[in-house]
Amino acid sequence: MAAVLMGLGGYLPPKVVSNEDLSATLDTTDEWISTRTGIRQRHTVIDGLATGDLAVEAGAKALKSAGHSVIDAVVVATTSPDRLCPAVAPEVAERLGLGTVAAFDLTSACSGFVYGLATAAGLIASEAADTVLFIGAEAFTTLVNPADRTTSPIFGDGAGAVVLRRGEPEEPGALGPFDLGSDGSRADLLAIPAGGSRQRSANGGPGHDAVPTEDWYLRMMGRPLYQQAVERMTRSADTALKKAGWTVDDVDWFVGHQANVRIVRAVAEELAMPEERTAVNIDRVGNTLAASIPLLLNDLAADGALRPGARVLLSAFGAGLSWGSTVLEWPDLSVESVH
Ligand code: COA
Repeated sequence: MAAVLMGLGGYLPPKVVSNEDLSATLDTTDEWISTRTGIRQRHTVIDGLATGDLAVEAGAKALKSAGHSVIDAVVVATTSPDRLCPAVAPEVAERLGLGTVAAFDLTSACSGFVYGLATAAGLIASEAADTVLFIGAEAFTTLVNPADRTTSPIFGDGAGAVVLRRGEPEEPGALGPFDLGSDGSRADLLAIPAGGSRQRSANGGPGHDAVPTEDWYLRMMGRPLYQQAVERMTRSADTALKKAGWTVDDVDWFVGHQANVRIVRAVAEELAMPEERTAVNIDRVGNTLAASIPLLLNDLAADGALRPGARVLLSAFGAGLSWGSTVLEWPDLSVESVH
């Protein structure tokens, strides 16, 4: 038994922020951002639009792509939920008209999509579900200090969704094997200190006073994170390939999490993956965390670059630290462009 991909959709909020737009208010330039990160623009939420709204749009597209409206479970991977409690997935399920199905969120930052695929495959393997709608959705720009030039150019908002069904491991679209890992000793490399129980229980109990403003925003140590990303993604991708009995030559598309084009290129180089088989869309969307891989798959499929039968390697790395990789043969899907 395997979890098989049967639908794919994505959504980007309408507001586009270019590097030039950013450099009007930040001490930065289009030249610095595009050469250091590969990013030229990103989409961002405004006017109260939230992660759940993006998830509903992407979920509807994935259901349409699958031609399927009976779903047993909805999982949303997000590190920028609408609120601390409750999870956004039950509301997304209800808004999509899916009824009182199993629904929950999972948090694994930029590796959320690969962790979520493994979780959805587990729901199918345990017979808790025959079909799962799994959505990676983020409005992470709301957690980034707009005055911080080291973090604010990097992130973008958006959502990508897949429908998975029970099937056979030999079928096109069957997911796996997976490689997943983490290193909690480096949690400080990318963190938002305030808003959780550690901050709330400090100084004698729940309190909201005297929390420095910057603690509500993302803190990132770019350099060490960059090194970890290259090392961990390379090793994880290699492990997933070995588990699948594939070599790099078997891979038609390397679809790596889009945190920085230099990270993607460095991992590809370590794996000996040619540039023309290494997928990139960070120039258009920035780093969209759990939405990054499905939005990239959506772009490749909608452009006709990703064809049925293509062998795909997915690999991601993010805060936690956490990382994961998996493989699949691309099925025949109908996918609409998000642009
Ligand atoms: N515009 C102009 N200058 C900037 C800048 C910006 N937006 N951001 C930083 N700088 C400056 C720094 O102040 C520094 O100046 P200095 O040399 O005078 O001190 C210089 O540029 C180099 O900064 P550094 O942070 O060393 O640059 P970098 O080449 O490491 O690139 C990142 C920074 C963040 C793009 C890069 O480290 C990165 O991508 N890291 C991984 C991030 C990541 O993956 N995050 C998500 C986790 S999945």
